[in-house]
Amino acid sequence: MREVQWGWLIRYLHSTGASVFFIVVYLHMFRSMLYGSYKAPRELLWLIGMLVYFALMAEAFFGYVLPWGNMSFWGAQVIVNLFGTIPVIGPDLVLWIRGDYGIADATLGRFFALHVAAVPLAILLLVALHLVALHQTGSNNPDGIEIKERVGADGHPLDGIPFHPYYTVKDIVGIGVMLVMLAIVVFFVPTFGGLFLEAPNFEPANPLSTPEHIAPVWYFTPYYAMLRAVPDQRLGALLMFLAVALFVVLPWLDRSPVKSMRYRGMLSRGALALFAVCFIALGYLGLQPAEGIYVILARIFACGYFAFFLLMPWYSRIDKVKPVPERVVFHAHD
Ligand code: HEM
Repeated sequence: MREVQWGWLIRYLHSTGASVFFIVVYLHMFRSMLYGSYKAPRELLWLIGMLVYFALMAEAFFGYVLPWGNMSFWGAQVIVNLFGTIPVIGPDLVLWIRGDYGIADATLGRFFALHVAAVPLAILLLVALHLVALHQTGSNNPDGIEIKERVGADGHPLDGIPFHPYYTVKDIVGIGVMLVMLAIVVFFVPTFGGLFLEAPNFEPANPLSTPEHIAPVWYFTPYYAMLRAVPDQRLGALLMFLAVALFVVLPWLDRSPVKSMRYRGMLSRGALALFAVCFIALGYLGLQPAEGIYVILARIFACGYFAFFLLMPWYSRIDKVKPVPERVVFHAHD
């Protein structure tokens, strides 16, 4: 950052880019939940999307260790030690991941290789597969109508429009807005108040000095809050694993006869709103010290989070739904 011309720009583009990537991915996942895009026949598409999300989490974690700041070091310490809670193989697995008896040079070396080569290639492959799976079913829409079921004489879906120029042009707007936001952060608030780059990471890694509060970057804090909400570390790790894993089975938890929230009743809508509130609240709590009221609140919101998934087979079935139209609905704007 300090010894290479424009080094600060490259670093801030990369650190801010990581946060922007997660903002976009979280919006993308929430959109799928809003329109029931994970439901049949798009289960495989959703599953591959989940693999992209897992690979992205691994990529961001490995990358965060590389600047070898004090939060890099202690963050790696916390996360790698989580594998130690796995019964029987835990302690050996931790040793194997680190390649040493502590987070050390060997760990840094392998995390570098994983970050710059292995995981990026895996992400590229998974994104390609995600698109292949998408093309099998075609895109969903806010009405939740299968557009491939109604094709015209030319074989094209009657309710579909070509990707180019309609979506290429539409997406340029979204990309433009994201790039402007990225530029504002990179040039004016690169640490984003400690949310995108944390203060302890401007100090070199020091095994003898633990940061006052160890917290991951914001995109992991909802899960981190759940990890710390449970006094027992094993149980906390299990709960955190479950919190992520429940997304995977969403297509099978959702028993609603309709896809989109547009045609669902108050139960499903309320549950999704509750989920969003819990996720954001847990994200905030994960950044706070694990004490007092913060832990109590984290427990309450964790209950809300799990209720959304675990009660879904029940409330999605009894929820009152509206009839879904035959064709994609278009309301011209006034
Ligand atoms: C999904 C894409 C990626 C994400 C989310 C990501 C995330 C991150 C994060 C969070 C950091 C720490 C940044 C900091 O604190 O300064 C980092 C550092 C780093 N990343 Fe990535 N990265 C990605 C792709 C890549 C790729 C493809 C390469 C190289 C081929 C790469 C090379 C590096 C290097 C060398 C560092 C250490 C330098 C630094 O800390 O700024 N990253 N990455």
